[in-house]
Amino acid sequence: MQIVDIENEIDHELLSHEQIMGKITETAARASEDYRGRTPLLVCVLKGAANTMVAFSQAMSIPLEMDYMSLSSYGAGTVSSGTITVRQDLSADVCGRDVLIVEDIIDSGLTLKWLVDELKRRGAASVEIFALLEKPARHQVQLDVKYKGFVIPDEFVVGFGLDYDERYRNLDSIAVLKPEVYEGEQA
Ligand code: XMP
Ligand code: MG
Repeated sequence: MQIVDIENEIDHELLSHEQIMGKITETAARASEDYRGRTPLLVCVLKGAANTMVAFSQAMSIPLEMDYMSLSSYGAGTVSSGTITVRQDLSADVCGRDVLIVEDIIDSGLTLKWLVDELKRRGAASVEIFALLEKPARHQVQLDVKYKGFVIPDEFVVGFGLDYDERYRNLDSIAVLKPEVYEGEQA
């Protein structure tokens, strides 16, 4: 593990850099086959999915375009409310495009559900999802995720783009935070 855990807040490594890159490469190969002959628009949900977006797009072997969106879901503490605010919108017009959303983690699923509906409302020809991580124990809505990465337990994870209080995004693996670090914060 890289030396970013100066506060000694990390409990253990969950996924190594090699495991993450292996899964992303394998998934990108599959998506490249599925989209062959088309130019998909990869939509990254900032900031958490930024690292996944870089690795995934570089592993794709077809022409593609990339765009970024920043969303925030307000709710009590760390619990997603389902009320989504667009902090920074896409620059691309998605009308008629084959959109592939690149997401770091699906927790309640409320953010992605909102985004899928919104992209369809804007006239996207198709909308699919690649989510690097998924916490099925916390899902609140049914989502059709075509490209799935890893199923993980209901623990707070950091690294490879994911943060705790904006830190650990630069960790090249994914690790579980010690529960005592965030306990008492959750609503
Ligand atoms: P939903 O709407 O699916 O929200 O509930 C997904 C967003 O919640 C954040 N999230 C996490 N971030 N470690 C993090 O660093 C986690 O374990 C975690 N679980 C959820 C994340 O921003 C994600 O996009
Ligand atoms: Mg995210």
